[in-house]
Amino acid sequence: MHAFYDPTRTYEENLAEGPFGLPSDTAPSLPSTAELWGHPVAAPFGIPAGPLVGSAACEAAFRLGFDVNVYKTVRTRRHAAHPFPNTLAVHLEGDLTSSTPMPLLADDAWDRGRSISNSFGVPSSDPDVWQADMARAVAAAGEGQLLVGSFQGTTGSGDGSVDAYVADHVLAARLVAETGARAMEMNLSCPNEGTSSLLCFDPDLVTRVAAAVKDEIGDTPLVLKLAYFADDEALERLVAQTDRIVDGYAAINTLPARLVDAAGAQALPGEGREVSGVCGAAIRWAGLEMIERLSALRSRRGSDVTLVGVGGVLTVDDYSALREAGADAVMTATGAMLDPMLGHKVRAAAAR
Ligand SMILES: Cc1cc2nc3c(=O)[nH]c(=O)nc-3n(C[C@H](O)[C@H](O)[C@H](O)COP(=O)(O)O)c2cc1C
Repeated sequence: MHAFYDPTRTYEENLAEGPFGLPSDTAPSLPSTAELWGHPVAAPFGIPAGPLVGSAACEAAFRLGFDVNVYKTVRTRRHAAHPFPNTLAVHLEGDLTSSTPMPLLADDAWDRGRSISNSFGVPSSDPDVWQADMARAVAAAGEGQLLVGSFQGTTGSGDGSVDAYVADHVLAARLVAETGARAMEMNLSCPNEGTSSLLCFDPDLVTRVAAAVKDEIGDTPLVLKLAYFADDEALERLVAQTDRIVDGYAAINTLPARLVDAAGAQALPGEGREVSGVCGAAIRWAGLEMIERLSALRSRRGSDVTLVGVGGVLTVDDYSALREAGADAVMTATGAMLDPMLGHKVRAAAAR
């Protein structure tokens, strides 16, 4: 329970001392069963940006047979985490949709939770700290394994202009490239401070940022991490503008919900946290639907972008469903936190 990221401890404790209580197993090596951006992988399965806050957690993920893992999103300068707690068990039977009655109960009853909250504010160390650590995570990938570096830009960088915001993404990408990461993910799907909406819903700005970043990193694969798009036309427009620039899309991040404790008070402390992101079983439908739509767009447009399916993958069957829907790779954050042996299980299925 709580593998890779322990929600009962602070982000800083997880970063400095984690991971806690993981099995000591080492997954046997496996011939590669797939290829991602030209790199053979034992199984196209791993942990997305989030639970792996540092190289020790990445190393443990690789050891346990998660083969494609993302180092938690970094920035070009230090950024503090939202106050503790950041993850709570969210109690909801069935799917979280736009018609789910709000609010939802969120607490620390982990034994009953298959969905969780995720409210960190994308904390980061300074690059001189995370670059060395990310380089260690890159080196921890064995044969048939791949470390992906995730980054995002920070609003208000430099003189606060849009140009400076674009330049901050480019700098972040350059700093990640310097670690030796062989693939990168640009997070467009977490609320950034000072913005009410997500960057992925601004196709013109995404296009500008993606082109500038690709200019900087050259052939290194660049994946865009997307939120759930309710609007089909908006998704189509984003893809039409970017699928000749970038190398893939990862979807989804979390779905928003209003979370309260048993007394009906705001569950996560602090301003702007009435609504927070929910991940796990309750959002599985949305991850699957996004991959189905992205896969249909890929076929229609004759593009060869790589699709990474994320959201509510708790079992091998959930992995298979996303693969059948068109995902080239699948990742799970909540699933890995609940079951550290899921990498083993998916590998066994992939080898059959
Ligand atoms: C503890 C935690 C931290 C996360 N931090 C990030 C992050 O820094 N960047 C990001 O793009 N997504 C982040 N996420 C979102 C996950 O990458 C993923 O998109 C989301 O949790 C849905 O997948 P799941 O249902 O398997 O948890 C985080 C998720 C969790 C659980």
